[in-house]
Amino acid sequence: MTEQMRAWTFSQRGRAQDVLTLGSIPKPTITSPDQVLIKVACTSLFSSYKAIMALLPVSAGQKRIPEAEFSGEIVEYGENVREELKVPGLAVFGLTLPMEPKTDLLRFMRNPNGTLTEYVVVRQNLIVAKPANMSLEAASGMAGIGATAVQFADAAKLNTGDYVLVNGGSGAVGMLLLQLLKKIVGPEGKVVATCSGSKKDVVLQYADEAIDYRAHAPVHTYLAQEYGTRKFDAIIDAGCTQELYDHSPDYLNEGKRFLDMSAKHPIGRGWQYSDLLPLIANQMKNNFWPTLLGGVPRKYIFISGTPDYKTLQKIRELIEDGTFKGTIDSVYGMDEVIQAYDRFSGPDARGRVVVDVRRDRLHA
Ligand SMILES: NC(=O)c1ccc[n+]([C@@H]2O[C@H](COP(=O)([O-])OP(=O)(O)OC[C@H]3O[C@@H](n4cnc5c(N)ncnc54)[C@H](OP(=O)(O)O)[C@@H]3O)[C@@H](O)[C@H]2O)c1
Repeated sequence: MTEQMRAWTFSQRGRAQDVLTLGSIPKPTITSPDQVLIKVACTSLFSSYKAIMALLPVSAGQKRIPEAEFSGEIVEYGENVREELKVPGLAVFGLTLPMEPKTDLLRFMRNPNGTLTEYVVVRQNLIVAKPANMSLEAASGMAGIGATAVQFADAAKLNTGDYVLVNGGSGAVGMLLLQLLKKIVGPEGKVVATCSGSKKDVVLQYADEAIDYRAHAPVHTYLAQEYGTRKFDAIIDAGCTQELYDHSPDYLNEGKRFLDMSAKHPIGRGWQYSDLLPLIANQMKNNFWPTLLGGVPRKYIFISGTPDYKTLQKIRELIEDGTFKGTIDSVYGMDEVIQAYDRFSGPDARGRVVVDVRRDRLHA
C-alpha cells in the first residue's frame, strides 16, 4: 500500500480559510536523479499565495497543496545531487516552485506540490543547506521572499551613501529589503520606509526613518516636502501605491529607478479577478506612456522575483554574515492552519506567520 502523509489541500479556488482541508494523500517519491526527498519542518505563509488560491483555477478532481517556501531535512537523494546534500538529516531551506525558465510567469500554476505537508520532493537547485545561525522556523521564509529582496536590491543599483525608499517596509519582502539595503548604502546612506504607525518600531530596527503612511497621507506630498531637495536614488514599491510613481519626479533623482513588485491586495475581503485590472492598466501606463506625451519621466521597472541556485546561495551567505535576520510574527501547529491564515490575512502580523508541520496545537 502507498505510504500516506498529512497535507492541507484545496480542490477549488477561494479564500484559504474556506477551501483548505486537512487530510491524507500519498507520500511523494523521488523520480529523477537530481531530486531530493525532504521531511518538511516549517513553511512560512506567502502573501502572493492568497491571490493564487483565490484566482487560479484548479482542474477537476485535482487536490493542490498550497504554499512554496519551506525548511526541513533531507531524507533521501538521487545519485546526481551535489555532494554537500548527500547527508540524511541535513537541515535545508528552499522552495518547491519550478525556477526555470525565468520567464515562466505561470510557475505557481505549474507547481503541483506545495509545502503545507509532511514531505516534498524538490530538484537539488531549489534547496541550500540551512546556516546554523538561523532557526528552522525563520529559514522557512527565506528562499522565495529572500530571492525577491536580493533581486530588487540588485536592480536598484545603489552605492554607498545613496538614499533609498521602500514603500511597505514592514511586510515580508520589505523587512528583508531594509536589512540588505542598509548594508549596501552604509551609515552615510539613508534607508527610509513606509508602514502602519503600529509597526514603526519593527521597521526602525533596520531603517533610518519610518513614515506612517496613514498619518502622512498622501505620502507623495509628504515625500515631496521632506525629500524634494535631497532626492532618493531608488524607490522600491512593496506597498503597491501607483500615486507614488505618478509623483516620483518630486523626490526621485533623474535617471534613477522606480521598482514595482505587485498589484494592490484587497483589504477586508478575498481576491477577485477585477482586482487585477488596475495592475494591468498601471503596467500599460507606466511602461508605454511616452514622457513626451505626459508620461512620468522616471524609469519604471516591474520585477517578478525568480529564485535560482545562485540567489539561494547569496541568501545563505547573507544569513551567515548576519545581514538577513528571521522576522517571525507567530508559529502555528499543523492543525491550526486556518488560524494561521486568519492571522496572516489580518493587519497585525509583525513578521512572517509560520506553520510548523511537525507539530499540532502550538497556539492553543
Ligand atoms: N514581484 C515579485 O516577485 C513579488 C514577490 C513577493 C511578493 N510580491 C508582492 O509584493 C507585495 C509585498 O509582498 P509581502 O509578502 O511583503 O506582503 P506583506 O507582507 O503583506 O506586506 C505588505 C506591505 O504593504 C504595506 N501596505 C499596505 N497598505 C499600504 C499602503 N496603503 N501604503 C503603503 N504601504 C502599504 C504593509 O504595511 P503595514 O502592514 O505596515 O500596514 C506591508 O508593509 C505583495 O503585493 C506581494 O503579492 C511580489
